[in-house]
Amino acid sequence: MNRRDILRGAAMTGAAAVLTPETLWAAAANDWTLGLADVEADIAPTSLALVHGRAPTDLKGTLFRNGPAKFRRPGGSVGHWFDGDGMVRKFQVADGQARMSARFVDTVKRRQDAAANAVITPGYGTAAGPGARVGSADDANAANTSVMMAGGELWALWEGGSPTAMDPVSLETRGFKTISPDMKGMPFLAHPRVQPDGTVWNLGLAGKRAVVWNLSPDGGLRKAEVITLPRAGYMHDFTATERSLIIILQPWVQEGMRMPIASTMVWRPELGAQVLVLDKNDLSKRRLFELPPFFFFHLGDAWEEADGTIRFDACIDKDPFGTAANGGAILRGERLRAAPPRRALITLRGDGRAELATDTVSAEFPRSDPRFAGLARRYSVHLTNERSGRPLFQSVAVRDWKKDKDQIFDFGARHLVEEMVFAPRLGSSAELDGWLVGTTINLDARATELHVFDAQHVDRGPLATWRAPVALPVTFHGVFVGA
Ligand SMILES: [Fe+2]
Repeated sequence: MNRRDILRGAAMTGAAAVLTPETLWAAAANDWTLGLADVEADIAPTSLALVHGRAPTDLKGTLFRNGPAKFRRPGGSVGHWFDGDGMVRKFQVADGQARMSARFVDTVKRRQDAAANAVITPGYGTAAGPGARVGSADDANAANTSVMMAGGELWALWEGGSPTAMDPVSLETRGFKTISPDMKGMPFLAHPRVQPDGTVWNLGLAGKRAVVWNLSPDGGLRKAEVITLPRAGYMHDFTATERSLIIILQPWVQEGMRMPIASTMVWRPELGAQVLVLDKNDLSKRRLFELPPFFFFHLGDAWEEADGTIRFDACIDKDPFGTAANGGAILRGERLRAAPPRRALITLRGDGRAELATDTVSAEFPRSDPRFAGLARRYSVHLTNERSGRPLFQSVAVRDWKKDKDQIFDFGARHLVEEMVFAPRLGSSAELDGWLVGTTINLDARATELHVFDAQHVDRGPLATWRAPVALPVTFHGVFVGA
């Protein structure tokens, strides 16, 4: 049964008057749609049930994750996965036990849409509805993409506006964060790069102009400088070495400043991709590299070798018509036939040459040991095995770049696997000595599950798995905060 059948059937039984976007969605035949279902209310703190293994006794801390969790309202729904209301999930692990809670971020957008009983706020792939009031970017801020800790505060991040400060204990929303009065409301990407010493670098994009943010570990402003980029390529993420910021200008170029943002993007493969390398100490010191055209959302942490060669991994598509477009289709219970993103290694040479080596392995949500951010490293963690006929990934991989080997754990077709993050073992400094912590949606149990892996033996499967009493939709990004 597809959406059209449901509509037709409902009309024949005279029930059309009660059909809403929510009821249509609930009746969708594909059960993977559980990963994109609506959540109606916050989740009060609750214990999770241990369903497999035993938790390491020395793992103690909190996994915060963010992702959209309300997409549909009776009078109109979002047009893209990226436009749902942000909900921050909190998974606490201590003494072998796990607890969770989750709260929607209390945004202007969520209040406006709730009052209208329709999604009227525009976004990445959603057009403005009747009565939408968007006086500033933060009026459309969905606060739904990632989280970071700054000075004891939890910030919910979105790529086009301010961070939203939250209480990390109660998950209560405190409001938009003004990092500096001079830069109030300037965008702050959802992918800050955090150095091992806690120093934060980030960008905020407005067409060809970008704010380069440099914050101290407590979230205080060190520097914010506006730079001009060679082009307004769509940018969800950038990367950094210890010394440099690395900005990829993909040939999906923003032409115009309106919402939905995706409607302003034009694919211009003839431009190729450009890689801009900026000196962190002097942003006027720039190098520009050229690569063939590709599309990406996510990059891995970069490092620089002794001879000045810079390397980083990336998850790339040949164009934006697969992964980016699927974010709209999957909210309708559909999926475009497109190859999943592939793992790639990008090399920037001291003599100005750049190389893009694309692998056959599918890859998204790349992470690494944060203690090695910007430094030479050996491992990447990412999701893999996007299942054909279904969106999202079913396996987690650890890539050993030195040995050219992958360890993979396959959760199987009945799990939607979310990004896995690294939690270091206390007292250890060796790369990836610790755990991977992350969630999946178990489609058979219709529940979100929390898993802990030994990060160096991911192929052995989870050491421990807990099951939540609810299924929450798939998240984008998170952080593990050790206790
Ligand atoms: Fe992202």
